[in-house]
Amino acid sequence: MKVLIVGGGGREHAIAASVAKSSKVKKIYCAPGNAGIGQIAECVPIGAMEFDKLVAFAKETSIDFVIVGMDDPLVGGLVDEMEAAGIRTFGPRKNAAVLEGSKAFSKDLMKKYHIPTAAYENFEDAAAAMAYLETAKFPIVLKADGLALGKGVLICQNLEEAKAGVKSIMQEKQFGSAGDRLVIEEFMVGREVSALSFVDGKTIRTMASAQDHKRAMDGDRGLNTGGMGTFSPSPFYTQEVAEICQRTIFQPTVDAMAAEGREFKGVIFFGLMLTEDGPKVLEYNARFGDPEAQVVLPRMKNDIIEVMEACIDGNLDRINLQFEDNAAVCVILASDGYPVKYEKGYLIRGLERFDGKEGYYCFHAGTKQTKEGFVTNGGRVLGVTAKGKDLKEARANAYEAVEWVEFENKYMRHDIGKAIDEA
Ligand code: AMP
Ligand code: GLY
Repeated sequence: MKVLIVGGGGREHAIAASVAKSSKVKKIYCAPGNAGIGQIAECVPIGAMEFDKLVAFAKETSIDFVIVGMDDPLVGGLVDEMEAAGIRTFGPRKNAAVLEGSKAFSKDLMKKYHIPTAAYENFEDAAAAMAYLETAKFPIVLKADGLALGKGVLICQNLEEAKAGVKSIMQEKQFGSAGDRLVIEEFMVGREVSALSFVDGKTIRTMASAQDHKRAMDGDRGLNTGGMGTFSPSPFYTQEVAEICQRTIFQPTVDAMAAEGREFKGVIFFGLMLTEDGPKVLEYNARFGDPEAQVVLPRMKNDIIEVMEACIDGNLDRINLQFEDNAAVCVILASDGYPVKYEKGYLIRGLERFDGKEGYYCFHAGTKQTKEGFVTNGGRVLGVTAKGKDLKEARANAYEAVEWVEFENKYMRHDIGKAIDEA
């Protein structure tokens, strides 16, 4: 089978590494890919939003199976276009990807189907949003409706901050058209968990849990980023919590989408907050998390292509998803200054130290191949993942492995997985 993966970050590298293990797969292509992915796949210089070119390439190359890793092409309807061209594609269609593409849609869905989430109001008008804030309780959360690279969320401590937030999202359009509509929601307190799942339209099978670290700096300070590191499993996501989530959140979400005529096939990533009143939904994503995929997929025992085909064919109920009885930690090596301003183009040394090391992975996010070797090419550069028999060992292994690679402005958080000490 020839497989095309669409995307070019650490998540797509982790997906490609899983796909490479499938006995069904002969050749992997990735558009646009990155330098690390290029070691296991053929990278094709087509952007993830260049739908016509992607479809033409898939036809010319007789691609048998497409996996869309990123949110933008999913929300834009790439799966529909591939299917229209007769190409089997893993991921939700446009009418289902709206679960991630519009926060207003997802909040209204949860309200209609009684799925636990933070109380909220949707606004299309800045003046109405400002007026609502006058009587609100603080802290409060502002969310741009559309996709904003994981950065469209502001947590505001008081009225002044919240008004400034409304102004920047709705009037100054800090996140572009994502801010045409705004969700204002209640601030929830608790532990965050990422629960990723495979869905075939009816059946849902959850993967091992994970936790991300979204803030740029140690101690959860600094700006929100795409994610600075992850660990899996989350010790806070117990069997009991998992059962509550299955009953009150996971299956109801899948059923709600089907009832709305938006059958969801693909990955639903539930961003959960474990509150005093039980688990609640922070957000939905219609794809693997990045860097959640970098700790979850290396622990998965199944052939990923078999699972993805079952999602498309509607027989996921026959799949027994299995994960290794161990743990994994991923530390992101970023360019100093991410997510705001940073230099790139620095030579990366030491990557070969990962060769042949069982249980260690160096997933590339922002890298480029040059004559001199691999150079940095983005804010998040590498995701260093290590397994261990438990979370403590995995963390120690990951923090050992981050020292194997060097580049000029290497930056990382030093407290990925620190929360496990409190478990
Ligand atoms: P999101 O992109 O919706 O996942 O939001 C980014 C981050 O903001 C989340 O990972 C949480 O840490 C935080 N956040 C979002 N919504 C809320 C909320 N209602 N209460 C508390 N924190 C929130
Ligand atoms: N790590 C969070 C995300 O992928 O959205």
